[in-house]
Amino acid sequence: MWTLTETTFAPTSQHHKETIFTIGNGYLATRGVFEEGYPDESRATFIHGVFDDVPFAVTELANAPDWLPLTIWLDGEKFSLAEGQILDYNRQLDLRTAVLSRRVRWQSPGGKTAVITFERFVSLADEHLLALRCRVTPEFDGSIEIRAALNGCTDNRGMAHWQRIDQGQIAPSTAWLRSRTRASGIEVALAMRLQSTSSLQSEYWDAENVPTLRQVFRACRGETLTVTKLVGIATSRDTAHPQEMALEHLNQAPGWEAALEAQKQAWDREWERCDIVIEGDEEAQLAVRFSLFHLLIAAPRHDNRVNIGAKTLSGFGYHGHAFWDTEIFMLPVFTFTAPHIARNLLDYRYRTLPAARRKAAQAGYEGAWFAWESADTGEETTPTWVPDFQDKKKLARVWTGDLAIHISADVAYAAYQYWQASGDDAWFAERGAELLLETARFFVSRAEWQDERRGYGYQDVIGPDEYHDHVSNNAYTNKLAQWNILTALDVLAWLREHHPARAAALTQSLHLSDETLAHWRTVAEKMLLNVRPNGLIEQFDGFFALQDVNLQDYEPRTKSMHEIFGIEAANRYQVIKQPDVLMLPHLLPDEYRQEQIQTNYDHYTPRTDATYGSSLGPSIQAIVAARAGHVEEAYRYFLLAARADLNDVRGNAGDGIHAASAGGIWQAVVFGFCGLRLTQEGWRLEPRLPAAWKRISFRFFYRGRQQVVELPAA
Ligand code: BGC
Repeated sequence: MWTLTETTFAPTSQHHKETIFTIGNGYLATRGVFEEGYPDESRATFIHGVFDDVPFAVTELANAPDWLPLTIWLDGEKFSLAEGQILDYNRQLDLRTAVLSRRVRWQSPGGKTAVITFERFVSLADEHLLALRCRVTPEFDGSIEIRAALNGCTDNRGMAHWQRIDQGQIAPSTAWLRSRTRASGIEVALAMRLQSTSSLQSEYWDAENVPTLRQVFRACRGETLTVTKLVGIATSRDTAHPQEMALEHLNQAPGWEAALEAQKQAWDREWERCDIVIEGDEEAQLAVRFSLFHLLIAAPRHDNRVNIGAKTLSGFGYHGHAFWDTEIFMLPVFTFTAPHIARNLLDYRYRTLPAARRKAAQAGYEGAWFAWESADTGEETTPTWVPDFQDKKKLARVWTGDLAIHISADVAYAAYQYWQASGDDAWFAERGAELLLETARFFVSRAEWQDERRGYGYQDVIGPDEYHDHVSNNAYTNKLAQWNILTALDVLAWLREHHPARAAALTQSLHLSDETLAHWRTVAEKMLLNVRPNGLIEQFDGFFALQDVNLQDYEPRTKSMHEIFGIEAANRYQVIKQPDVLMLPHLLPDEYRQEQIQTNYDHYTPRTDATYGSSLGPSIQAIVAARAGHVEEAYRYFLLAARADLNDVRGNAGDGIHAASAGGIWQAVVFGFCGLRLTQEGWRLEPRLPAAWKRISFRFFYRGRQQVVELPAA
């Protein structure tokens, strides 16, 4: 199961299909729109790091100039799925090679029939090369015209980010375009070449902002015409001379066949590292590969200045911003299968420490408070207001940018997990340790002494469950803050022993006196954790006093409980958007015993809006259910996650891939069903496989060495 297939053209689900058929190479990604273009499509190519500011709104990834346009004219009639007759249709994404292809047999309104195939890929072997091949087999004699363009008139749902710098033609079949983002001043250059056999006529149209190459051919019944469009692309983030770089990559590009071969080899190497084989369950097999594919095409391999947005590079949703989705949901996949990518992503957080320090300082705290939504610089980019989903004319206040402090601990957790799994002491001493110490410093300074309870905690926060805002002592936040502070103390001790110069430098720059460190320990030891005598953890102060709800009473439904209750009112109920307390046994498995996990699982599961709440939820439910020994239930949650984008469960996949869910799927398989755990001695497995899975195998890196797992063990 390597192929995603669409056998009928369904205009109403195109936005969903555009997302799932997105291709990319970790440098950029292009949604699965059609070469010929349609009015209501959501056409986009996003390049990592190419952010632009929008006046009075937020920083967002700018939808780049479009490299795809290619139109076909059969005896003067333009090929369009909106007209004429579709006699045969098939679209496929080969996940193994990342090649998207479409084959259509089409009859024009005037009765001209042809078989048209398109194949395209965004090269992984050369990140600056994009390739498209079109073949037309006419069932008539006459003429065929091809127009291939670069289109600089792109926008983000009406918001224009680009200004044309210049355009032109170099050789008869080579044209180029240079554009610059309006506010951030990032330049992008594209250069295209059109290669074909025996055109009768070839010309260049210097259309403003849409340089176009046009070729006309004789159509002979049954004879296939092949046209290849190669595009080189570069930005001023890569070089001071993007146009030269784009041309260089175009000129160095081998022909279609050789470029495709290089693409296949590059992807073989990716899958060799991270494929999971599941025998006996085709749906699970496809979903796992699909998720990995979407993480891989968004993963920056040669750039440590960017993060992966919550919707990857596959849609306009969340403006390309990164959340805790990266560290807690996606990063483990890279930590264990592609440590070099994990390190790039963690470097991004390291590089944005200055912004995180500023955010903490502006709020009156020490250390680093990372942005809840982060773009290029790491400044907070969470919008303050968004349209209310109950009434789009009203605005709803978004509090996460002000109150979600757990993000700092999530970053620390990911850095520490990377270190534990990779054994990359050099990186950790140089960068990771500072991440842990700076986040710990933040949590110590943000902690409040609560006299009546004789403990430290955090008032006025938002935990992972965003149906409740302005809460106090969110168990997840308090526990991870405690973990962060205690782990930072261990890290400092390690640093002092193994890297004394670095330890001394950090001790001085972060003012880590003995007295300060003793205070850190006191804060951590006296952290309020909201654990009841029976082990039940109260999600935040007063949660158990809220009105209880039987979610069954609202079935059947297709909306989230947030939409049903309304943003304000949702605060009054014991219904949660996504696992919050249950994140704890997932992230800190050794700290919770089976009985306590069961108690909390039983309490929170029926109160979690798993189907229509956050897409981050089901995979975590699956992991915790598997851990509690409920394999069938775990599998049901796993399927919910597996279907999130493939079946567009929430109806919003058109905005982009739910990247956290994609990462969660890998984690549900590896940490959940296979039970992979790191231990003092190395790693171990506690498999609890779904009944249908006859065999599963996967690979991961531990301390620089690839490990191979086969279950059941031979
Ligand atoms: C979830 C957050 C998540 C964000 C981006 C929200 O709906 O509640 O946990 O970080 O989406 O995916």
